[in-house]
Amino acid sequence: MNKKETDRAQFATRLGVIATTVGSAVGLGNIWRFPYEAGNNGGGAFLLFYILFILILGIPVVCAEFAIGRAGRSNIFGSLKKLGGSGAWRFVGYIGIVASLMILSFYSVVAGWTLEYFVQSVRGALAEAQDYHVRFESFASGWRCVFWTVAFLLVNFLIVKRGVQRGVERMSNIMMPALFLILIVFCINSLLMPGAGEGVRFLFSPDFSKITWEVVGNALGQAFFSLSLGLGCMLTYASYFSQKTRIIRSATTTAALDTLVAIMSGVMIFPAIYTFGMSTDQSGPALVFEVLPNIFQQMTAGPVWSALFFFMLFLASVTSTISMSEISISFFAEQWKLSRGKACWINLLIALTFGVLCALSFGPLSSLDMFSIFNNATSNVLLPLGGMLLSIFAGWVLDRKVLRAQLTNGGPHRKMAWHLVVFCIKYVAPAGLAVILVMSLT
Ligand code: PHE
Repeated sequence: MNKKETDRAQFATRLGVIATTVGSAVGLGNIWRFPYEAGNNGGGAFLLFYILFILILGIPVVCAEFAIGRAGRSNIFGSLKKLGGSGAWRFVGYIGIVASLMILSFYSVVAGWTLEYFVQSVRGALAEAQDYHVRFESFASGWRCVFWTVAFLLVNFLIVKRGVQRGVERMSNIMMPALFLILIVFCINSLLMPGAGEGVRFLFSPDFSKITWEVVGNALGQAFFSLSLGLGCMLTYASYFSQKTRIIRSATTTAALDTLVAIMSGVMIFPAIYTFGMSTDQSGPALVFEVLPNIFQQMTAGPVWSALFFFMLFLASVTSTISMSEISISFFAEQWKLSRGKACWINLLIALTFGVLCALSFGPLSSLDMFSIFNNATSNVLLPLGGMLLSIFAGWVLDRKVLRAQLTNGGPHRKMAWHLVVFCIKYVAPAGLAVILVMSLT
């Protein structure tokens, strides 16, 4: 490692690399967004495309972002510029920064919901028998929803202000495995419910008549959102990787764990939906917040599980928002030459403004519904578009030798994996993403 590279903060251990990228990938996308998207888009058919896209588009684009980030050793903007992306490539940087701030804004609203549900679990109020649909609506349309959005953004701010290594690494090392364990318990619990058969069938047996370009586009959007892909998030994290980090292996591990958590969330939710006589496709973003309290109510020591779960979900959200904040913060700090502190403040102020507007989308500003606009525009348009451009960059603009050195760490490599990944980066991802984008939008 040369002197210049050690100037930039780096992740200390291999576990740190996996834990932070998984920490970014695993979050509300898996546990909140995946179940309602799968529910709205036909269950099994959606899952099939989702997994297919993770394999042939997701993993290669993660590799592309990792390669660009570690070779460029800078934020999305700086890395592209350093590696020969002049002029129009700045546009990709802007997509990433705008998308990350949009996601941070609506994501914080949902993360705020987890805080509310955590507090209500601790107070015992969530366990009282009631209609959780009505309960959710009255909460989300009120001022408490705005309060929690702001509170969440402040927590995120305090963490990012402390810097990359200390803040991020320590927390995700402990919390991710804990979340994983608790999900296993809930899956087993759901599989023992009377509606387990129907729920599992809905999720795992694809009904091919349900497949439309819209379903395909939504599956792609979910795959990109869930992998934190297409906006330079993985790229920015990779700029902190050491030379020893193995890119293809890290990308595959991250994608595998991320997909596993999404499927586990489905296994936890769908049996419960059938058991409680709810519907898979009517609640939208409210879905898990209406289903989960019903599950906890049936469990022994329900309030304890419930508090634990919402707290874990909150932490999983923080590790994701830290990663999306890092995109714009590293941009403000490195491109605009501001101190990290100032960059954090700008990030906070933008997110607060739009976060509050998103929070009001379930009440006074429901006709504007900025929440849904941000949610759909990022996943279904900006992320696949950004991913397409980043894979074109890695495959066609980046020096082939640099790409090869990054993917193989400059050492001997297994021929198959290297060729497969490069083939997907150069041809499959750009063409596949272009076709799906055009077809699902028209
Ligand atoms: N992947 C995160 C999740 O599933 C969300 C995210 C998107 C994080 C984009 C960073 C960038 O919750």
